[in-house]
Amino acid sequence: MLKRILLIVFIILLAIQFIRPGKNIHPGSQPNDISTVYAVPASVDSILAKACKDCHSNNTRYPWYNNVQPVAWFLANHVTDGKRSFNLNEFATYTAARKYDKITEVKKQVDKGEMPLSSYTLIHTDARLTEAEKDTVFAWSESIRKQMEAQYPKDSLEKKPNTQPHT
Ligand code: HEC
Repeated sequence: MLKRILLIVFIILLAIQFIRPGKNIHPGSQPNDISTVYAVPASVDSILAKACKDCHSNNTRYPWYNNVQPVAWFLANHVTDGKRSFNLNEFATYTAARKYDKITEVKKQVDKGEMPLSSYTLIHTDARLTEAEKDTVFAWSESIRKQMEAQYPKDSLEKKPNTQPHT
């Protein structure tokens, strides 16, 4: 009985290896990148690149284990959800209210330890941000908030939960 179950599990595992999710790889210029609307200093960019952009940009650096199912599905889900919620490469297309919300969330999520996801930092140990790196991100987020507050009328930065789904 056990042998049979193991055999079935093995066959299923083998079969799913051939079902691969699409990859998030769109090289080339990113005309809607956040850097086209707000300054992203190199010190911030290097943190975003190593700790955030695998899930929040149009290009993911895939590890070798992405060739193993069902791991690839697990990773693809995070990338899809992460990008849908907050895409650094598409930031310029967001409304002012969404930009303001997301840049505020950058600080909140990192501060609470929600971002980067713990399943990610488990393996990508260099994405575990030091206090100094967190401070760099916080100061950047704050500077964009300040800039936006000067740039836009207050009510245009307010979230309108009924008209804009919080994705
Ligand atoms: C392994 C993938 C992954 C990594 C790495 C990652 N995130 Fe996320 N992030 C997600 C996912 C998935 C969501 C969507 C969560 C949800 O909808 O509940 C998300 C959501 C967010 C949001 C939107 C939150 C909201 O409520 O609007 C922000 C902002 C964010 N992440 C910032 C960051 C920052 C900053 C980093 C790097 C320091 C980072 N993330 C690293 C996967 C990731």
